Amino acid sequence: MNRYLVEGISELVTCAGGKKRGRAMADAGVIRDGAFLVDGGVIRDVGRRQELAARYRGLPVLDCGNKLVTPGYVDSHTHLVFGGERSSEFVRRLRGEPYMAIMRSGGGIAATVQATRAASEEQLVRAALPHLAEMLSLGVTTCEVKSGYGLDTETELRQLRAVARLNELQPVELIPTFLGAHAVPAGTDADRYIDYCVAESLPAAAESGLAAFADIFCEEGVFSLAQSERYLRRAADLGFRLKVHADEMYPLGGAGLAVRMGAASADHLLQVREEDIASLAASDTVATVLPLTAFCLGERYAPARRLIDGGAALAVGSDFNPGSCCTYALPLSVALCCIYMKMSVEETLTALTVNAAAACGCEGRTGSIEAGKQADFLVYACDKKEFLPYRTGTNLVRSVYKKGELVYGETA
Ligand code: NIG
Ligand code: FE
Repeated sequence: MNRYLVEGISELVTCAGGKKRGRAMADAGVIRDGAFLVDGGVIRDVGRRQELAARYRGLPVLDCGNKLVTPGYVDSHTHLVFGGERSSEFVRRLRGEPYMAIMRSGGGIAATVQATRAASEEQLVRAALPHLAEMLSLGVTTCEVKSGYGLDTETELRQLRAVARLNELQPVELIPTFLGAHAVPAGTDADRYIDYCVAESLPAAAESGLAAFADIFCEEGVFSLAQSERYLRRAADLGFRLKVHADEMYPLGGAGLAVRMGAASADHLLQVREEDIASLAASDTVATVLPLTAFCLGERYAPARRLIDGGAALAVGSDFNPGSCCTYALPLSVALCCIYMKMSVEETLTALTVNAAAACGCEGRTGSIEAGKQADFLVYACDKKEFLPYRTGTNLVRSVYKKGELVYGETA
């Protein structure tokens, strides 16, 4: 079916109208008994069923059976490509050892760096594929993926090549990010390593054309504000758009730096400073919160309510990685947003779709159900959006469509 009308939609959550900040996030553009026209994988018209049925009489119909439909989710922050696993560290954390202490003792990111350096591109691809299949089944149709487990040019580029290959092998659209400055590798110090990134790995990544974004772990004991700024300036000069791991463990001011650098997003924000909430709100930088990480680390959640009330554009991502957050359980994430971060269901859906798309620079083609966008949408087993947090942790996605094609589940 190339041209068809989607109808039988109890609630059509469109998330239309572009990136939303502050109060506007609560407007998820819900149309009761909605419908939309798909033509050649693109959405061409959206409205109420009665109107569209009259306008497009005779066209084939995809009947959703009076169910909820939303845009496909954009997971705007993942570390999906890596070697090995770190379940033993998870157990150490359960016994009370902090994440940063494990990192300082030579575990953490360094352990995954060793395993990733030892893995071939093929092995990295094969390890990631089942995760992508699972993410798709949870409704993810677009996903950002970072490198960052090589900390040398060769392995970082191998990770990015694995992302490019994965993009060809399965339906979830991948957005690659170069995270050369994820940790300080053994045998050097942070300043010297930033020198290396600036002189070698950032230019090599730019030359490869394999990454759209550059990112850094700006954190007390990892990369300082000054080191992060040096890295980000070079990345911007080389043509990368920017992302920053900011204020995750310590209120260093990474979010403020992200704003000053014009970054597309500042991510984590568990410890974001009050003044940086205001600067995020006054900027185009998306505030990305990752509640599954806070949950897995047993840390307090990012102040999503204060960020939204202050006027920021908030996105939600998974942060899937082998260390701090080895999960992409979006149904749980939705519940955490609503129950612990005090976000409404509408705000949560805005954060997972159009705002997350803006955080990855793909809001022009996905993240909402409106004319001109790719037909990336989800049909659920329920008829109301409130069921998403209410049926806590349960996957209610029944069918996933990418560019108008059924890519997971049963035909609605
Ligand atoms: O976003 N905080 C830094 N990076 C990841 C964790 C990576 C890891 O532990 O392997 C994060 O939480
Ligand atoms: Fe991360």
